[in-house]
Amino acid sequence: MNVTIVGTGYVGLTTGVGLAFFGHKVTCVDKNPKIVETLSKGTPTIHEPGLAELLKLAMPNLCFTTDIPKLSGENVVIIAVGTPTREGGDADLKYLEAATEEIADQIQAGAKVVVVNKSTVPVGTARHVDGILQKGLHNNNVEATVYTASNPEFLAEGQAVKDTLYPDRIVVGTDDEDAKAMLRELYTPLIEQTFDAPSETPRPDNLAAPVFITTTATSSEVIKYAANSFLATKISFINEFAGLAEHVGADITEVAKAIGLDDRIGKRFLNAGIGWGGSCFGKDTRAIVTTASRYGYEMPIVSSAIEINTRQRKHVIERLQQELKVLRGTTIGLLGLAFKGNTDDLRDAPALTLIEELTERGATIKVHDPITMPNAQVQYPDLNVEYCDDVTALANGCDAVVVVTDWDEYRDLPLDEMKTQMRGALIMDARNLLEPSEVEAKGFDYVGIGR
Ligand code: UDX
Ligand code: UDX
Repeated sequence: MNVTIVGTGYVGLTTGVGLAFFGHKVTCVDKNPKIVETLSKGTPTIHEPGLAELLKLAMPNLCFTTDIPKLSGENVVIIAVGTPTREGGDADLKYLEAATEEIADQIQAGAKVVVVNKSTVPVGTARHVDGILQKGLHNNNVEATVYTASNPEFLAEGQAVKDTLYPDRIVVGTDDEDAKAMLRELYTPLIEQTFDAPSETPRPDNLAAPVFITTTATSSEVIKYAANSFLATKISFINEFAGLAEHVGADITEVAKAIGLDDRIGKRFLNAGIGWGGSCFGKDTRAIVTTASRYGYEMPIVSSAIEINTRQRKHVIERLQQELKVLRGTTIGLLGLAFKGNTDDLRDAPALTLIEELTERGATIKVHDPITMPNAQVQYPDLNVEYCDDVTALANGCDAVVVVTDWDEYRDLPLDEMKTQMRGALIMDARNLLEPSEVEAKGFDYVGIGR
């Protein structure tokens, strides 16, 4: 099929590359000429395991451009531009609206086009997009068959390729049978898993076939918010209990393990720590609470999940304060900048909150991250931190080292070397990655979350 993807961020790029890999002819459009130039050379613009390989394999079916091509014949157009949060919690639709207008202008007479919303958008946006398209066609005096559909993306950063090739489900929300059929065809290689798995992203053993779910457009829009709100709430839930564990003297990792074995609860997303970050959970939870309030409806669970997440970041700072007594004049090393491991993304990263708050309290901050430091230097040129090439260099002169991001390499820290380098002896494990007894055996004071 002919596919156009508008916006090549995390979602747009992995989706486009995936669909081209399945054999569709895919045009990826991005307003940023630098992104287009880099991708045209076959170089990924984001850090995702397996993406470089998939891009290479898919290259014959891919092209990258800054402008939406003419749309004649049968086409699927997928919108994956950013939907940032405006002040007040609403999603800002200006990119989406601009993209939709451009799409409408490229639709040729007699074409049959399904316009798919993959960006996370407020409930009701499918209808809004349809309105913009119909108005565009009318203004241009073009007769064409145009459908809209919502097709939310559930990929998590750091495993975007895996989530794209082996999803649990594909949700398509549209009121039109023709559009459903076209999107089913688009995803058939995925639903039937007929492609040869790329070597870097092998098919998981015992993979259950992805379920293809069709719903109304509105249900589909709600599904995305419900899924992200649920996962965010699950994390806040375990963090709330982590706080209790600290008061009563329980170990939250033991609690989480035991409750997670109940398959009604499930073991994933029960890691207590500094709380969630990233581009989705904060944005989507706030957006859905704001939407609900417009209807005079309160969502106390989701609202509390947001509050607990804010409290959790503060809690890490308060614990440091308690241990070090006076923060002014101390040097604190942060292990990790990215909002989670396996990604170079800094959006809503807890590390940034720590840097801001600890600096304000007079501490000097050193940081290390396996891949995110160049990004941080470009995106936050004024960040008042010392960047360190490795963990030992970071430890040098520190009163405390805080594990902020769950990078695998931090599970196995060079504790002996760190001990000789540090001025103090505090390891604050804000992700519960380390074994407390092992850290203490090396002469450190260990502080975890809820342990
Ligand atoms: C995605 C989804 O779009 C968002 O709704 C979801 O909540 C998080 O994941 P992401 O893929 O990370 O966002 O995109 P983002 O980093 O915001 O970038 C979007 C891309 O679209 C950028 O490369 C930008 O240059 C491009 N863009 C933006 C366009 O090509 N045209 C526009 O009009 C606006
Ligand atoms: C999330 C959803 O998982 C994905 O389905 C959706 O499409 C986009 O939002 P992402 O933000 O990439 O994906 O990362 P995710 O792995 O969900 O982690 C979000 C945050 O929660 C990270 O900061 C992570 O460190 C934190 N987290 C996750 C925890 O604190 N504890 C956990 O147990 C799991």
